[in-house]
Amino acid sequence: MDWHSRFLQQAAWTRDLRVYLFERAGLNRARRVLEVGCGTGAILSELAPCPVREPGLLRKNRDYHATPAAIHGLDLEPVRLAEARRHVPAAVLVCGNALGLPYPSRVFDITFCHFLLLWVRDPLLALLEMKRVTRPGGAVLALAEPDYDSRVDKPDALAPLGRWQAESLRRQGADPGLGSQLAALFRQAGIRPIETGTLRSSPGSSEVVPVPAWGTGHKGGERLPAPAERNLEWAVLEADLAGWVPAQEVRRMKLLDEQAWERGERVLHVPTYFAWGKV
Ligand SMILES: C[S@@+](CC[C@H](N)C(=O)[O-])C[C@H]1O[C@@H](n2cnc3c(N)ncnc32)[C@H](O)[C@@H]1O
Repeated sequence: MDWHSRFLQQAAWTRDLRVYLFERAGLNRARRVLEVGCGTGAILSELAPCPVREPGLLRKNRDYHATPAAIHGLDLEPVRLAEARRHVPAAVLVCGNALGLPYPSRVFDITFCHFLLLWVRDPLLALLEMKRVTRPGGAVLALAEPDYDSRVDKPDALAPLGRWQAESLRRQGADPGLGSQLAALFRQAGIRPIETGTLRSSPGSSEVVPVPAWGTGHKGGERLPAPAERNLEWAVLEADLAGWVPAQEVRRMKLLDEQAWERGERVLHVPTYFAWGKV
């Protein structure tokens, strides 16, 4: 499995929201930024160092969140960090645990995570740690946390796919429904809420509908993803299901899925939540 490609794919789904949130959180004025659970550096590699402060640059160049800040990343897995070092040579990368961040208090202007909290044993403690290392007035952002328990698959014959995916995440120690608890976790962590909501996260979609002021929402309608996108999605699913869902059943679902996309009848929606607030 090529995890960097997978993380880049997920990063593309959430890019528009990220541009919006980073701008609101003041990324172009930040001096020090941290991604907790940075993986292979898919998100950090977008934070191109920008020596010149240019207001509005983020709007002009949507692919890069230009910032003069020093970029820091932390991950539990040395293998992922080794890859991140190749993709983001300018970043300061540290192997460590989100549940006990190896930084002093109040040192970062912005602390964020992306598809992390569902994997963490104690997500509230992780948020408390993110809050601790962020300076007063700084921002803590959870950019994307899915709720696979509410995944929508149409036609109905494809419903087992969502159940299998959620079960597979549970077997791997993740909480597939974490996204729906995000706003409550921010409140419990004492992070002053600014915005929360959901974004569209279907394969191939990068359209995003941020919903202000602790509401939730999503936009209907799906777009046919490129075959390469679907193949990557299936590669992850097949790896996750191997050994506990009969291969024949998986093949049958894959065929039904392909046919539904071709007929224009496929709907795949995973509500994916974001939240951010100030310390
Ligand atoms: C789904 S990946 C997301 C990577 C990256 N944020 C991205 O979006 O491309 C989740 C990452 O969190 C890391 N992780 C999981 N639990 C962690 C923990 N307790 N502390 C630090 N990193 C952790 C994993 O090693 C993995 O690289």
